[in-house]
Amino acid sequence: MNPFTFYNPVTLHFGADAMEKLPQELAKYGDKVLIVYGGGSIKSNGVYEDVITILQQANKQIFELAGVEPNPRVETARRGAEICKAEGIDLVLAVGGGSVVDCSKLIVAAAKYDGDAWDLVIKKAVAEEALPLGVVLTLAATGSEMNSGSVITNMDTAEKFGWGSPAVFPKFSILNPTYTVTVPKNHTIYGIVDMMSHIFEQYFHNATNTPVTDGMCEGVLRAIMEAGPKLVEDLENVALRETILLAGTIGLNNFLSMGSRGDWATHNIEHAVSAVYDIPHAGGLAILQPHWMRHVVSENPERFARLAVRVFDVEANGKSVEDVALEGIERLAAFWASLGAPQRLADYNIDTTHFEKIIEHTMCNGPFGNFKKLHADDVRTILENAL
Ligand code: NZQ
Ligand code: ZN
Repeated sequence: MNPFTFYNPVTLHFGADAMEKLPQELAKYGDKVLIVYGGGSIKSNGVYEDVITILQQANKQIFELAGVEPNPRVETARRGAEICKAEGIDLVLAVGGGSVVDCSKLIVAAAKYDGDAWDLVIKKAVAEEALPLGVVLTLAATGSEMNSGSVITNMDTAEKFGWGSPAVFPKFSILNPTYTVTVPKNHTIYGIVDMMSHIFEQYFHNATNTPVTDGMCEGVLRAIMEAGPKLVEDLENVALRETILLAGTIGLNNFLSMGSRGDWATHNIEHAVSAVYDIPHAGGLAILQPHWMRHVVSENPERFARLAVRVFDVEANGKSVEDVALEGIERLAAFWASLGAPQRLADYNIDTTHFEKIIEHTMCNGPFGNFKKLHADDVRTILENAL
């Protein structure tokens, strides 16, 4: 293992009665609360009403920022930060999926920063402080509810970057599985793909002697693969929603990367693709990750073979390590396809037109990927294979 320091201060309230903890959390902050939400799903499924009722009972002064986009835009965060500054907001409450949470993270940081919010995303400035952030999560996928990362898009420059700061860890996150039963089939599938992808990104590293985190990754993946297909056929099953919700949080709250540095190349390529094409994040991952795996498998076939045997139940008897490794990758691609995830860039009408722009975006900080360093030609090959 690599030496490490671990810090995660998020208070997680999980379960059917998790909202009962909201009043005690609200009591810790001042009166002015900005609730941030997306395109309206929280209004049709009753979550908005639950939140507003509790805020009113707590005598809070309520401000709202609606319309956060999937793949949240920097403009929206700027608007939120302006409200915070103008009104003297005491707490920002994100109510929605990863996009709402990510946008709110930039809002709370930009509210305490004098320059433009985009400076924080492109790391021209570091977010040293932030307003307090609370989360009511409605979609299992990103893990943003229990991490300090955020991904923001600037459509003017066709850029989408991840950034983060310990200052933007949510103070608390409320996870009620019943709030996720209305997530439609496509976003349920994307969520499953995203959380699995996060685990792969962390599983593929170059540290040695990591049996604890290896086993944790494999166990969470198996739980997702058991619950995921059933959930896609039974969207209102709360027990399955519960499993997937916890898996998404564990998938990216950094417990799985204690002692190692994950790869994250697939995410970098996907962010570049969705910056240009505005496709769902995990739709891009489902297409790209198996191709990344095929491209880098020779780097450490033993690690891929271990995944194949322990997670994808590949029989190793009499086969070469390379064959076992490849069979595991094919099983992953088949699993995502069986859920209904996209398999080719052509599924989103993406051709080679903007490949150079995408490649340039991925290379903006030089070669990338901690399991295997990728250069421009590697990215081009992966994209071409994914057409
Ligand atoms: O906008 P509304 O109306 O709320 O609808 C949303 C949206 O259309 C809908 N939805 C959410 N909860 C619902 C619901 N519909 C019905 N019932 C509910 N309970 O689902 C759609 C997708 O929501 P979104 O928040 O965009 O999805 P997700 O949670 O997958 O977030 C995706 C974003 O997170 C970033 C991605 O790049 C993308 O921008 N990521 C953030 C990460 C992080 N902060 O750690 C890591 C990830 O790798 C990822 O990059
Ligand atoms: Zn992701």
